[in-house]
Amino acid sequence: MHKRLIIILALITYSWIAQAQEINSPNRNLTLKFELQGNGVPTYQLTYKKKAVIKPSKLGIQTKDVPSFLDGFTVIKSEKATADESWNPVLGEQKTIRNNYNELLVTLSQAAQKGRFLRIRFRLFDDGLGFRYEFPEQENLNYFIIKEEKTQFALAGDHKAFWLPGDFDTQEYSTVTSKLSEVRGKMKAAVTPNASQTTFSPTGLQTPLMMKSADGLYINIHEAALVDYSTMSLNLDDKNLVLESYLTPDAIGDKGYLQAPSKSPWRTIVVSDKATDILASKLILNLNEPTKYKDVSWIKPIKYVGVWWEMITGKSTWAYTDEKIQFGVTDFSKTKPNGKHAANTAHVKEYIDFAAKNGLDAVLVEGWNEGWEDWFGNTKDYVFDFVTPYPDFDVKELHRYAADKGIKMIMHHETSGSVRNYERHLDTAYKFMVNNGYNAVKSGYVGNIIPRGEHHYGQWLINHYLYTITKAADYKIMVNAHEAVRPTGLNRTYPNLLANEAARGTEYEAFGGNNADHTTILPFTRLMGGPMDYTPGIFQTKVSAYNPQNTSFVHSTLTHQLALYVTMYSPLQMAADLPETYNKFMDAFQFIKDVAVDWDETKILEAEPGDYITIARKAKNKNEWYIGAITDENPRVATITFGYLPKGKSYTATVYADGKNASYDKNPQSYAIRKIKVNSKTVLKQQMAAGGGVAVSIKEEPAK
Ligand code: NOJ
Ligand code: CA
Repeated sequence: MHKRLIIILALITYSWIAQAQEINSPNRNLTLKFELQGNGVPTYQLTYKKKAVIKPSKLGIQTKDVPSFLDGFTVIKSEKATADESWNPVLGEQKTIRNNYNELLVTLSQAAQKGRFLRIRFRLFDDGLGFRYEFPEQENLNYFIIKEEKTQFALAGDHKAFWLPGDFDTQEYSTVTSKLSEVRGKMKAAVTPNASQTTFSPTGLQTPLMMKSADGLYINIHEAALVDYSTMSLNLDDKNLVLESYLTPDAIGDKGYLQAPSKSPWRTIVVSDKATDILASKLILNLNEPTKYKDVSWIKPIKYVGVWWEMITGKSTWAYTDEKIQFGVTDFSKTKPNGKHAANTAHVKEYIDFAAKNGLDAVLVEGWNEGWEDWFGNTKDYVFDFVTPYPDFDVKELHRYAADKGIKMIMHHETSGSVRNYERHLDTAYKFMVNNGYNAVKSGYVGNIIPRGEHHYGQWLINHYLYTITKAADYKIMVNAHEAVRPTGLNRTYPNLLANEAARGTEYEAFGGNNADHTTILPFTRLMGGPMDYTPGIFQTKVSAYNPQNTSFVHSTLTHQLALYVTMYSPLQMAADLPETYNKFMDAFQFIKDVAVDWDETKILEAEPGDYITIARKAKNKNEWYIGAITDENPRVATITFGYLPKGKSYTATVYADGKNASYDKNPQSYAIRKIKVNSKTVLKQQMAAGGGVAVSIKEEPAK
């Protein structure tokens, strides 16, 4: 009798658990439904205000050496939880971030695998969904190798997408805007050359993938907390409009080595019927762990200039000599200098002087160390040692000079993709930095990776990038990594990761150009995962002014360049042009001098991916606001509201606007600066030129 009762109870519980599980977002706009289908295949679906965002989609992991986690599951446990807390990022777009979600954790068991179990954790926020796979410690699971992750995102329509070709090695492509059904036809032209690139499918796409449905839903798919796992791209089934995860393989084709207990990164879907909500979303940061560092007092925002754009444009060189050299063998003091080596002591002092005079924090110097003569495209193992300066670069003297003027130096480590060589030298290189007054490093991974066959976005490299960041923290060094994987919010956990490149940066304006709408898309794609070292601030938009052979030009007006300091969030911002140019435009440069790089508050005032963005931010611990508005190739009026200013107070706003006849292609340097009075009720309608923008700084009026 007793036994029967227990069985009946168990059946009731079992059948209750086996039912579909549902949770709502705190504001109830979003609903997530989990369900086992067919032969015990886990699926999920997502709706926003009753509209389908993700139709029923399969979940699972295909493994190589043990049975897969794809089907034969029953739900053995289902738990719900809620969280509502606030936290303060070390550096960020706002002082306080609210983390508010409802959670569903399902435990699934495979009877055919001796009850081996897997958990899937869903967190539903007002601005979207995050979910991940968890492999708990258990008797029947230890090591396993991932063949492929089989997470699907079945879309509800043929959305307009802002996409990059899926690639295991680079994100430095121009964004294509098209319907998903048009991806295949546009793929070939989208794959432009890069120093290292590996596409995988005629319908392969990168994340963050931004989409807009015909009925006005904005949907962004990415991942959060990519740690000890391969980077996820998406493969599009363009008949059925289903996206499926496609992980980056290693040199022998495997896609991940895991040991229970472990977990996948979060798969994220940010969704809203307002584009501004996508830019305001903190979902990806919220899904990352709090900082692991006890002391974060040494982590500071940085505004910097650098010996850089002059090499990118071809005016100067990283290399010291044009002679053939062999790194580690050649004695550079015996070679003939090419006369164009920018990283020389006297010239670097000019940058230090400029930074000191204009209140900037730091100076980056590239091309300071031996090895640049044969670094590019050779897949050479021992190419740099990161501690040996060229004969004309006096490390000690520059340390003294910069320290004397209160300027910090930013080290440059180009690894040339030779990651094993970099790891071998890393400790010595960081020690060398500390000894010579450098507290930040820009690292780079141009070219194919060594160990050969590994990819920039594979698990091995993911672990390398994090290793360099945590190791840097041991030395109180901040990191800005170029060509590394696109960020996934890890700057919450490891805030010394100030910024990444991982997209087509300003450098491409000197390599043929970026599209005029490029910077109206990036905040909806690449920047969803974290800050970008976009290197704005190019005032001399004609590259030929520095190098007559280079006919490229910057696809924006000078004012647009100013606005980028606000629209492209980063606690590390470069004033990328040459001091000689800034000295000719000191009135406009004033905005770069003033603008903050760390913020108390952020208001996304208006936005549409591919068209325009207007953002207002309050400087950290200051009564100052900065506004940036940008437009694509079309002239447009920015509507700037000021409702965030304290009521009843009057402020002086300095408006840096495009000149009347300005345009990015014909008249980019035309601007007009004016001062106006504003208060919380002001509405400023400001005309922007084609490829233009507007920048505004607001300070409290001194008391009379
Ligand atoms: C590519 C980086 O994006 C760029 O900023 C750097 O100057 C070069 N690599 C050389 O390291
Ligand atoms: Ca790059």
